[in-house]
Amino acid sequence: MSGQAADPTQGGYAIEAVDIVKNFGSLNVLRGVSIALRRGEVTAVVGDNGAGKSTFMKTLSGENIPDAGELRIGGRAVAFRSTQDAQRYGIETVYQDLALGPDLSIPANIFLGRELLQPGLRGRLGMIDRRRMLDESHAVLVELGVRIKSYRAATQSLSGGQRQGVAIARALKWARHAILLDEPTAALGARQRDMVYEAIRKSAARSLAVLLISHDLPQVLELADRIIVMRQGRAVANVLPAQVSVRDIVDIMLGAREAA
Ligand SMILES: Nc1ncnc2c1ncn2[C@@H]1O[C@H](COP(=O)(O)OP(=O)(O)OP(=O)(O)O)[C@@H](O)[C@H]1O
Ligand SMILES: [Mg+2]
Repeated sequence: MSGQAADPTQGGYAIEAVDIVKNFGSLNVLRGVSIALRRGEVTAVVGDNGAGKSTFMKTLSGENIPDAGELRIGGRAVAFRSTQDAQRYGIETVYQDLALGPDLSIPANIFLGRELLQPGLRGRLGMIDRRRMLDESHAVLVELGVRIKSYRAATQSLSGGQRQGVAIARALKWARHAILLDEPTAALGARQRDMVYEAIRKSAARSLAVLLISHDLPQVLELADRIIVMRQGRAVANVLPAQVSVRDIVDIMLGAREAA
């Protein structure tokens, strides 16, 4: 894919996924999933383990190429062949496994593939501006409330919660259109969790489309503008938080009840 990114402010939906199918060998993981994200809204995707949530999200992030179906941005069909394609449209992702380079420093991870060059001739010679990358990494992590002693240490030496913070900071730093978060608070303590939820609210307030995958149903009810329930590779319900309880969602997730 090449050329100009579509104007993502056009059209009612920021991102539309229509009838997405994804198979792994004989395993039909996504069986025709249609989900649309609006700018300025938090859309939560919930479902039991193995329902296909991460697989679906990875079709929006360019990590998985769907076998059938269509993605639209601002109403126009796009075909992502790589995560860089999605990034060109301002779509940033926090993967469930974080996708950080373990041997890289924090700034190197946050700027991976988007390194800042030094001004002037040095930059033209390809010299990287480590100072600015460090300062900007620091700023975004401080805003997120993640405390880190050494920004120069390899990312693998951080705690699980700190690593999660780095992955979230990277997505927040670069997202211009949509931010996709797969279980972003799984490794976090209460204080950092609240800060991540606050960052999610702020992202929506900045008019980003936010996709949040989470098993924390009470939090989803509080935070989301819309909740999509997935079961066995299908989106089986699309509800407003005010219309449902945690119990209702669990029943729909498990197939004990059909969506209203
Ligand atoms: N790369 C892959 N190769 C083969 N099978 C895969 C692959 N990725 C996912 N699957 C399978 O697809 C199904 C759905 O997985 P997925 O990770 O999307 O579930 P999930 O809803 O995110 O679950 P969880 O809540 O546990 O994260 C699972 O059966 C999984 O084993
Ligand atoms: Mg998952």
